[in-house]
Amino acid sequence: MKEDWRISDRVLQIQKSAIHEMTRLSKEVEDVSFLSWAKPTSDTPEHIKEAAVAAIKKGLVGGYSENAGLLELRKEIAKKLKKDNNIDADTSQLLVTVGAVEGLSAAIMALVNPGDEVILPSPTYSTHIQQVILASGKPVLVPVIEEEGFTLDIDAIRNAITPKTKAIMYCSPSNPAGAVFSEKTLRQIADIALENNLMVITDEAYEYFTYDGYKHFSLASIPEMKRNVVSCFTFTKSYAMTGWRIGYLHTDEALIPQITKAHIPFAICVPVVSQYAALAALKGSQKCIEEFRDHYLSTRNLMCDRLDDLSSVFEYQKPRGSYLMFPKILLKEGNDSTVFCKKLLKEARVSTTPGVAFGPTGEGHLRLSFCVTEEMINKAFDRMEMYFTG
Ligand SMILES: Cc1ncc(COP(=O)(O)O)c(C=O)c1O
Repeated sequence: MKEDWRISDRVLQIQKSAIHEMTRLSKEVEDVSFLSWAKPTSDTPEHIKEAAVAAIKKGLVGGYSENAGLLELRKEIAKKLKKDNNIDADTSQLLVTVGAVEGLSAAIMALVNPGDEVILPSPTYSTHIQQVILASGKPVLVPVIEEEGFTLDIDAIRNAITPKTKAIMYCSPSNPAGAVFSEKTLRQIADIALENNLMVITDEAYEYFTYDGYKHFSLASIPEMKRNVVSCFTFTKSYAMTGWRIGYLHTDEALIPQITKAHIPFAICVPVVSQYAALAALKGSQKCIEEFRDHYLSTRNLMCDRLDDLSSVFEYQKPRGSYLMFPKILLKEGNDSTVFCKKLLKEARVSTTPGVAFGPTGEGHLRLSFCVTEEMINKAFDRMEMYFTG
């Protein structure tokens, strides 16, 4: 019997978010050490907040903007894409979206027919899987190579292609594993897309956060990919603007009106106050990005050092990017990551995210965020050391 006759099959297929479940359970625990959110803990820089206040006071934010976003903002985004991503962008190729997430959703709605297959590396950001399901597409999860830093398995991706494959979708730097796909690997993805007439949908939310010489590469910088790629970006991570809900996508100008058709029923336009804040973010000093990156580098190193002292419990790949890592649980109880994480929360007061939330190959792992203070990491690991080694 159907769970609840009122609910669509699409939505019933989506599993409850383990991340939100852990957040809910964490609230019931006093003085919890919180490593389960992929959300910057710093506040939005002052000059961005001030620009938003000024726009409000000038009476600029009470109405809708163009559906694609303020022209002034799209001009600045085009400059940024040229400067930082080597993408030759024009304002007609841009759509300002409600975070990266709404851009990804609108793109999938515009590209994927019911039953179309979308290849996703696994583990991956669980929202991507849900977005494909909501568009009545079929997520095809292709395991990544964990021992090589969770990188893409190009042969496995080739083997997963069928006549129904419409797109490949990935995030790099990645959530949950902190992988950074190399330019060489991504050029292979571009070849596969061009040979098979596939779209590639990229989520570049963590574009600025790479370490140890690993470099972010944007697929849209390859001119031949012009018709085959939709690239999604966000202000959320780069400028600590999670709550402002603003991002943007870049693609072939012929696709923008079609994706806009999917964007309008969900959003009409992005909140105009957030568009003025984003404009200030792009026009102002970029020092905050550097400061966030330096902070994540030192918290990553601290987290890796602390994990080294728990080598009988966890085995890990050092994250090359983002601010997340995905250790494997070596203990037998880790086979069920949900039970493991709930127990860790209840008994050690450390909140993490079960790996299974990121697809079946994530089972046996847990996700840890290092976008927190050093004190938070030390507190969490002091507790885990006590808990596991007594
Ligand atoms: C890979 C990835 N993409 C997108 C998002 C959310 O981005 P936004 O706030 O811009 O919708 C997140 C947030 O955790 C993420 O990890």
